[in-house]
Amino acid sequence: MEEPVGGTAAGADDSRTLVAPAAAAAKARPLHAIDASAAPRLETGLGELDRVLGGGIVPGSVVLLGGEPGVGKSTLALQLAGQVAAGGGRVLYVTGEESAEQLRLRATRLREVPGDVLVQPETRVEALAAPWREAQPTLVVIDSIQTMQTERVESAPGSVAQVRESAALMAASAKASGAALLLVGHVTKEGVLAGPRVLEHLVDAVLTFEGDRSHAYRLLRATKNRFGSTREVGVFTMHDDGLAGVENPSELFLAERRAQTPGSCIVPLVEGSRPMLVEIQALVAPAGYGTARRTSLGVDDGRVALLLAALDRHSDVDLVSRDVYVNVTGGVRIAEPAADLALALALASSRLDIPLPADVAACGEIGLGGEVRRVGRLDLRVREAARLGFRRVLTPPGPEAVAGDGATRIETEDVAEAVRWLRRERPSTSSE
Ligand code: TYD
Ligand code: MG
Repeated sequence: MEEPVGGTAAGADDSRTLVAPAAAAAKARPLHAIDASAAPRLETGLGELDRVLGGGIVPGSVVLLGGEPGVGKSTLALQLAGQVAAGGGRVLYVTGEESAEQLRLRATRLREVPGDVLVQPETRVEALAAPWREAQPTLVVIDSIQTMQTERVESAPGSVAQVRESAALMAASAKASGAALLLVGHVTKEGVLAGPRVLEHLVDAVLTFEGDRSHAYRLLRATKNRFGSTREVGVFTMHDDGLAGVENPSELFLAERRAQTPGSCIVPLVEGSRPMLVEIQALVAPAGYGTARRTSLGVDDGRVALLLAALDRHSDVDLVSRDVYVNVTGGVRIAEPAADLALALALASSRLDIPLPADVAACGEIGLGGEVRRVGRLDLRVREAARLGFRRVLTPPGPEAVAGDGATRIETEDVAEAVRWLRRERPSTSSE
């Protein structure tokens, strides 16, 4: 039995949980005698969620689901509740924001109204003790943690002290009772978990739901995961009847692409074990008066500045006194330097007004010397590009054998070479 986490100076163990604590402390065992596969998993029935969690929820564990208001946290939580109940589990769904009737309406919309989801509209943590003990839930959902308050703390609901103490109390109860606990938490626009951030240390996994409301799809990432990798990403689309998992995200991200437009380049990213093609767009325009504007969405500003400097210094693309706008379509956020070459090509393509050929993708990191550097999982990237019909992929030079599958590599030494290649590919109809 693990020591309940967090909490105040409360002495006796049972005062720290809502349920009677499980028996005495665990005995120390030799490391080699511990069977890691013995940690059972509660499969959620939502493939993309299982992927991010590392194969399901671990009983007794605490998962924090964060995201901006409206992104779909309650929808995901309710779908999860429905799946767990449909699989024979018992769910206690505590709603502090919506009424039970609102929740029922949502469930009707999702066509998931299993009998075994107990709904409790409640904001007082102590009031959960009885249903928690009586229902013996396999899963407890708290929507949201910011609405909960405990008698142990005097401060207002939503304050850091309330959020922390309420969560600690429920986390200890989850560990004592073996129930999995899902805490839904709001994140402010600035990306700060206002409140939930203070919870990161006391939960086992932190999942972040991303995506703006103007796009149908949502990305689910683990930023902390004691039971699995933090590199996997889950992809969902939001429909009238709830969230649906997306197995082939590349198709989704490329659906609206207009090929042959200057300033656009496709890059095969790798998120966890999964390759994903996304489109990077750049717009380079003459600057008005004053300093040039630089705006980027989905790519780190510093990365864009570095690539502008590298292009300017090491190729004949002139970017002085130009406004530069960069966007990754669909609201995807790119963290990989592997996108550098595609971004540089998109910038050059816009500046020179030469569209990239429709069958081309690019990946490679760019160094300050303008050189194109190697990236991990090149085989995976080229294969995914080929699968989606891209016949040529600009890549770093190097001996990696890449199983062709119909795509050829164009080995590119540096940005200057990439720009020369682009000029050679200029369609005869386009003019500069
Ligand atoms: P919600 O899950 O309430 O977001 P959160 O709990 O993160 O604040 O839902 C967000 C939006 O999704 C809401 O504006 C309505 C929309 N939505 C759908 O498009 N389809 C659905 O089936 C549901 C339930 C919601
Ligand atoms: Mg909600």
